[in-house]
Amino acid sequence: MTPTRAPIRIAVLGAGTVGAEVAAQLLEHREEFEARIGAPIALSGVAVRDLDATRTRALPRELLTTDSRSLVLGANIVVELIGGVDQARELVLLALESGADVVTGNKALLATHGPELFAAAERVGAQLNYEAAVGGAIPIIRPLRDSLAGDHVRRILGIVNGTTNFVLDRMDEEGLGFDEALAEATRLGYAEADPTGDVSGADAAQKAAILAGLAFHTTVPLEKVWVEGITGVTADQVRTARAAGQVVKLLAICERITAPDGTEGVSARVHPALLPRTHPLAAVRGANNAVFVQAESAGNLMFYGAGAGGPETASAVLGDLVSAARRHVIGGPGLIGSAGADLPVLDHGVVETRYQITLAVRDEPGVLARLAGIVSERGVSIETVEQSRAGSDGTASLVVGTHRAREAALAATVEALRDAAEVEAVLGVLRVEGE
Ligand code: NDP
Ligand code: HSE
Repeated sequence: MTPTRAPIRIAVLGAGTVGAEVAAQLLEHREEFEARIGAPIALSGVAVRDLDATRTRALPRELLTTDSRSLVLGANIVVELIGGVDQARELVLLALESGADVVTGNKALLATHGPELFAAAERVGAQLNYEAAVGGAIPIIRPLRDSLAGDHVRRILGIVNGTTNFVLDRMDEEGLGFDEALAEATRLGYAEADPTGDVSGADAAQKAAILAGLAFHTTVPLEKVWVEGITGVTADQVRTARAAGQVVKLLAICERITAPDGTEGVSARVHPALLPRTHPLAAVRGANNAVFVQAESAGNLMFYGAGAGGPETASAVLGDLVSAARRHVIGGPGLIGSAGADLPVLDHGVVETRYQITLAVRDEPGVLARLAGIVSERGVSIETVEQSRAGSDGTASLVVGTHRAREAALAATVEALRDAAEVEAVLGVLRVEGE
């Protein structure tokens, strides 16, 4: 190829785990990228905070700058990989308003300011690509946005946080406790120094908001994603699940649902759940991610792979970059998100699921019947009950599995059981999915 036009100027913001890899690959494989794009490209600079910081990939010193704004204003494509929300938002808006396309892997930014950024992109006809924001290397944004745009996605079940999947996997495989498994994840570099955002479910919630928005063509605000993390999952629950042919996974679940009053809407939630070991997501091991999509015509689809890592995430970022650069060559309007369906995001209480409730109870006549009464009075139906032999203190453990019911009724049932004189303690509650 003989480049005849001015190079497409690319600015990379951030040279951390992902940014350094993206910049290094752009320099190493420039000719290959130019052949794919059909035009010359130039990495015009890489913005960092500290010019002297040690990098995972060596970058030419003259490309590094702390002046992000000037770099953005001189670019055709801005690759935002600094993370965080406020400065990233400012720089992405500056890029879009100056007519540049943007590629980002920033789920926190998109989950909190997505609609504002998509509107800015649409105003100027720019692209805002974010394949790396959910599932790292896994192509899931483009399939939902483009390939499935002619179908109706009914439900998404996703393992979208590698740290928590690693922790739960170690608890399952080795019988470790939560703290021990998390310490191992930290030692091996899977968990951040501060893993709060992972174990609390906050990271997965950001990804759930993005997935639900795309799948249902609806804006799903982050604050409407219902979240429970994995800090309360016990070694006992994981062991019991294993013995019953189940596995505990932190799931992001996005669904189209109908409220009792007939309102059609959507919901997004993140919580630990029991899955049968035969479910495709049960086979997702270690720090891997997977997204299981159920669509009306396409049926069940599964997208699987590495959810994080420098080279892995750079693959998704560079794919977005090539796509944006090709538009500079062939022209045409920017690719934008679609929120045209504008469905209501329904309250968590109307979601349907199944509960498995583990109780410590007095092993006395009539206890089972009274507890069954408490459950049925709330409109919940029991599917299974398993009681262990009572210990010397007269306490037995009772595992109650319910049929599908609305969250509000199930939560009210747990509260009533907690208050019942026959119940010494509610030892655990896990939702059951994927059956
Ligand atoms: P890092 O923390 O490793 O790197 C961030 C980089 O941004 C650093 O080089 C830092 O500079 C630079 N930076 C931070 N603030 C500024 C600023 N205001 N101006 C200029 N530079 C700045 O982040 P990651 O590479 O891990 O992540 C980048 C993005 O990709 C995040 O949005 C993340 O959520 C997303 N992502 C990351 C994945 C991963 O596996 N790491 C997976 C999927 C998505 P300095 O080095 O000088 O401190
Ligand atoms: N902390 C995230 C995880 C990184 O553990 O999956 C990728 O978003």
